[in-house]
Amino acid sequence: MKRRKMTAAAILLCIGLAVMHGCGKVREVKSEKLYLGVACYNASDTFLSEWTDSLRKEIEALDSEFDGAAVTIADAAGSQRTQDDQVKALIDSGCNVLCINLVDRADPSEIIDLAKEYDVPIIFFNREPVAEDMMQWDKLYYVGADAKQSGIFQGELAAEAILADSRIDRNHDGIIQYIILEGEPGHQDALIRTENAVDTLKSEGILLEKVGHGIANWNRVQAQNRMQQFIDQHQNKIELVIANNDDMALGAIDAYQSRNLTESSFPVFFGIDGTSVGLEAVREGVLAGTVYNDAKGQAEAVAKLSAALVSGTGMEDIAFTKGKCIYLPYSKVTADNVDEYINMK
Ligand code: GAL
Repeated sequence: MKRRKMTAAAILLCIGLAVMHGCGKVREVKSEKLYLGVACYNASDTFLSEWTDSLRKEIEALDSEFDGAAVTIADAAGSQRTQDDQVKALIDSGCNVLCINLVDRADPSEIIDLAKEYDVPIIFFNREPVAEDMMQWDKLYYVGADAKQSGIFQGELAAEAILADSRIDRNHDGIIQYIILEGEPGHQDALIRTENAVDTLKSEGILLEKVGHGIANWNRVQAQNRMQQFIDQHQNKIELVIANNDDMALGAIDAYQSRNLTESSFPVFFGIDGTSVGLEAVREGVLAGTVYNDAKGQAEAVAKLSAALVSGTGMEDIAFTKGKCIYLPYSKVTADNVDEYINMK
């Protein structure tokens, strides 16, 4: 009797699956929950906190496509060991996709081993593992943006401003004295942005003299402190500040503002990200320009890929680079188009 019931259930299941396949819409069955375990390197990072807010919204919007959709976000506060433990806890709590923003992008092995053991696919985001690590398993993906493009765009924005306004070269020596404020050493967005911003300025014919270079780890307060030291050393010699992100550009502006210097002795500042505070500073005219790092687009891509991985449908609609990466484009923001970006937030 028991066996007959089981056979009937199996037949029904087969018919169900056949119908679903016939319609090509397995996802309508809603038998599966979507549960994302997100591990973030540091929740106090301005860009990343906007990024994870977007992801929450994207996942909430998928709720009706699944038998519920949920997200848990863990903050590693800058410790890789903490993150490894958090990933284990996320797997134990039943997540079926992991979204990992590595603390140390060169050290993903423990997380990859865990995910493999429990067969949970990983979407890395924002902090890109090296190519060799991405080959460790076929269920590893990356969503981010092309660091080189952001550096080139920042260099172009700065060159356009310098060529359009001779007052930027305040001492009229035909050379732009500049400072670079960099993100974490070893992060793809620090090294590559710096190199490409400077190379682009040079290739646009701008003569440059580097008067200082400081690491401020994406952080506004650290950038303010570094900039205060540069102001002490070089007084009003600095004409341009290139920062690897908006928060550090804003920290540099804070340093000038806290000195009560007249605005005519300020350099021009350029950031990258287009965070809400960054865009507001562009609108006010204190930040000359920024390069929009599309947090919303990246979060959308992660949500779409997660849904495809869990439902088993839709992978063919995703345009991958190198078979497993998705790179969203950057764009340039100045006072002329900043309102469009503010409205998109
Ligand atoms: C960069 C972003 C920075 C910071 C960093 C963290 O892409 O521009 O502001 O958030 O990622 O990994």
